[in-house]
Amino acid sequence: MGQCAIMAATWMEASQVTDAAAASRADVASRLPLLHLTFLLLATAAAAAVGGEPSPPPATATTPWPEKFHAVVVTNLTGSGGRLQQIDIYYDWPRGSALNVIRNQLAGDPLRDVQWVNGTSYLFDAMSCRAFHFAVGLLPPDWKKKKAGHDGGGGAAYLGREHVDGFDCHVWSNFVFDRYYEDVVTGLPVAWIVDGMERHVLSFEPGAVLEDCSKWQAPAYCFNGSKADAPASSP
Ligand SMILES: *[C@@H]1O[C@H](CO)[C@@H](O)[C@H](O)[C@H]1NC(C)=O
Ligand SMILES: *[C@@H]1O[C@H](CO)[C@@H](O)[C@H](O)[C@H]1NC(C)=O
Ligand SMILES: *[C@@H]1O[C@H](CO)[C@@H](O)[C@H](O)[C@H]1NC(C)=O
Repeated sequence: MGQCAIMAATWMEASQVTDAAAASRADVASRLPLLHLTFLLLATAAAAAVGGEPSPPPATATTPWPEKFHAVVVTNLTGSGGRLQQIDIYYDWPRGSALNVIRNQLAGDPLRDVQWVNGTSYLFDAMSCRAFHFAVGLLPPDWKKKKAGHDGGGGAAYLGREHVDGFDCHVWSNFVFDRYYEDVVTGLPVAWIVDGMERHVLSFEPGAVLEDCSKWQAPAYCFNGSKADAPASSP
């Protein structure tokens, strides 16, 4: 817990850095394609993705996310010049943050992305760090129930059923997910599409947490002008 306390203190210092580094989503996207894969982080244009769907079927009973989970997702980015990619996602709503550990095939050191509920995010590897700010932070566990214009969800639309990865799925969409596929039988996520990237869920452990507090801590150079805002390595 000592490390967690340190983290909180550092976090307070970090807010200035974060404000200084505030950037529009478009700006971030153009400079840092990697951030597209941060599925929990949100753009300001709420509900843009849900407009124009022809008469969606009535919303179905749906499973909220557990307050904490660990998921492993894989993506094939080779078609767009990237690599096969695996991301370990640690979502912790009570803590108010999520950690993505991003590994590209045979690329060595992973990239880490710590996202906070208020929209601040640190993306770093062993060499560099960038801070970002988004208008909306983590998706809440019950994001599928959120109506447009209400805080924390931005509006989600139920789009019906589809078969994905061999699973019969409920399909959702919101301003993060172009599509979000949920197994009808278990309620587990099967896949989602963010910015055109199809992420396939290999494992999903409700309640799993990252015990090592230090893993949540962005490195000192995120809060130190000497390295902060140096470009992160590209995917
Ligand atoms: C984010 O939250 C932290 C602590 O909860 C706070 O110190 C900081 O000012 C917040 N940042 C923004 C941009 O609201
Ligand atoms: C990845 O996608 C490319 C096409 O974009 C395909 O040729 C290749 O077989 C895929 N690799 C895997 C492991 O799915
Ligand atoms: C910033 O980092 C450099 C090199 O790692 C270190 O010498 C310096 O003391 C740090 N400054 C602060 C304010 O942490």
